[in-house]
Amino acid sequence: MRLFLMFIMSVFTIFVSQPAFSGGAATIDELAEMYKIDAKCIECHEDIYGEWKDSWHGKSLIDSRVLRTWRTFILSGLDKSKGKRRDLKDTCLPCHVPQIKDASDELVVKIADLIVTAVDDKDAAKREAANKELSKLNINCIVCHNMKATSDGKPVAGAIYGPKGPEGIDATPHEEEKIKSIKSEFMATSEFCAGCHHGCPPDLPSDICPTKYTSYKEQFLARGGKETCQECHMKGEVFKSHKFPGIFEVDYAKEGIDLKLTVRPTEYVYHLENKIVPAVVVNVDVTNKIGHGIPYG
Ligand code: HEC
Ligand code: HEC
Ligand code: HEC
Ligand code: HEC
Ligand code: HEC
Repeated sequence: MRLFLMFIMSVFTIFVSQPAFSGGAATIDELAEMYKIDAKCIECHEDIYGEWKDSWHGKSLIDSRVLRTWRTFILSGLDKSKGKRRDLKDTCLPCHVPQIKDASDELVVKIADLIVTAVDDKDAAKREAANKELSKLNINCIVCHNMKATSDGKPVAGAIYGPKGPEGIDATPHEEEKIKSIKSEFMATSEFCAGCHHGCPPDLPSDICPTKYTSYKEQFLARGGKETCQECHMKGEVFKSHKFPGIFEVDYAKEGIDLKLTVRPTEYVYHLENKIVPAVVVNVDVTNKIGHGIPYG
């Protein structure tokens, strides 16, 4: 379902998109450099960096399950339709690698080629090299704490946004590093996550476009649910966790569902052979305790 929607979305965008101007970064290294997190940022936030690195956001392109689907979309979706590989820039990559807005069209095509190489090339060394290149692109600190951090989409270049802001934290270390801290209450709202976790135009009803966000609003908030996405997905003892667990983290997934099974032995008459056969009656009681439908996939 999700891929079907993505396909529709991509065809839609291909027909409405304007001819692109082709400036911007020419290589992955150049693009990665524009959004790099420096060593000091990692040193001061070592724990958060460690959690983020292994999270789905930290590998938003290169997990092998995800990468294989990208390959199929490129070969069977784009290449076999009127699409061009460059169209990934306006269709898929704005959520998966938002930095792409600063890439040249040629680089977008190169990234698409690398995705295919990373999955399909016969030479393991080439697959590995392509994977390594792609791993430089992901949803990193700068993407969330700057690019996506304001509701109007116009962040101050180079600033770091957070929900507490300079008055709410000890901002001295940032000031010493000449990092400007800015308060963004928006970052603590579910709408911040919806920026990427809700891909449809805002007025599309949820029965046409079921996303985590529409189901959260219509099924959870409307029935008295209170938590934000962050309150459930960023729970941490000392600081807001950046692991972002979901359906693939078994212990977390278990938290979301109450499963009660009652099994009672019985027997029934199998009339074709006039036999009494032992049987069981199973009552299944599933309660969804999470803030949205389970799971879309
Ligand atoms: C010299 C150490 C240092 C460096 C370098 C540094 N930080 Fe911080 N950062 C801190 C400290 C200390 C706090 C405050 C923690 C507190 O008071 O809770 C903080 C707070 C934050 C906050 C919370 C802000 C808020 O308003 O809620 C964010 C987000 C953040 N840093 C991101 C970054 C990013 C991204 C980088 C790299 C570009 C970075 N920091 C570089 C030390 C540092
Ligand atoms: C509006 C933002 C957005 C757009 C546009 C978008 N994606 Fe995604 N995509 C996401 C988010 C968020 C997730 C993960 C969250 C989830 O599983 O609900 C995801 C998950 C995926 C996955 C993992 C699938 C799986 O089985 O779990 C693949 C592969 C993928 N997207 C490819 C694409 C392709 C190809 C396109 C373009 C046709 C695209 N995405 C367009 C936001 C987007
Ligand atoms: C997917 C988006 C996303 C990414 C990527 C991300 N953050 Fe955050 N971060 C958030 C949000 C949202 C909050 C605020 C959560 C809240 O308070 O509700 C936050 C909060 C923080 C805080 C404040 C923690 C606290 O307990 O108050 C720090 C520090 C921080 N982030 C640093 C980083 C660093 C460093 C990186 C990169 C290694 C990073 N973040 C990557 C979304 C992100
Ligand atoms: C810049 C876009 C972006 C933002 C902002 C963002 N996400 Fe994501 N998120 C993604 C993409 C893309 C993936 C899928 C990565 C993959 O599977 O390769 C993802 C994956 C996830 C997953 C794991 C999905 C799974 O299938 O288990 C969770 C949970 C998640 N995000 C929660 C959040 C929450 C909560 C917020 C807000 C605090 C948020 N995200 C903000 C783009 C984003
Ligand atoms: C009340 C807690 C709660 C709230 C609120 C909540 N989630 Fe979840 N979410 C969970 C739990 C628990 C899971 C794992 C269980 C599952 O997926 O069945 C999950 C799973 C997910 C997944 C991965 C599952 C999949 O189907 O791909 C994504 C992505 C996600 N949530 C994003 C969000 C976003 C975005 C919001 C806000 C609009 C949000 N969540 C609000 C508890 C919550």
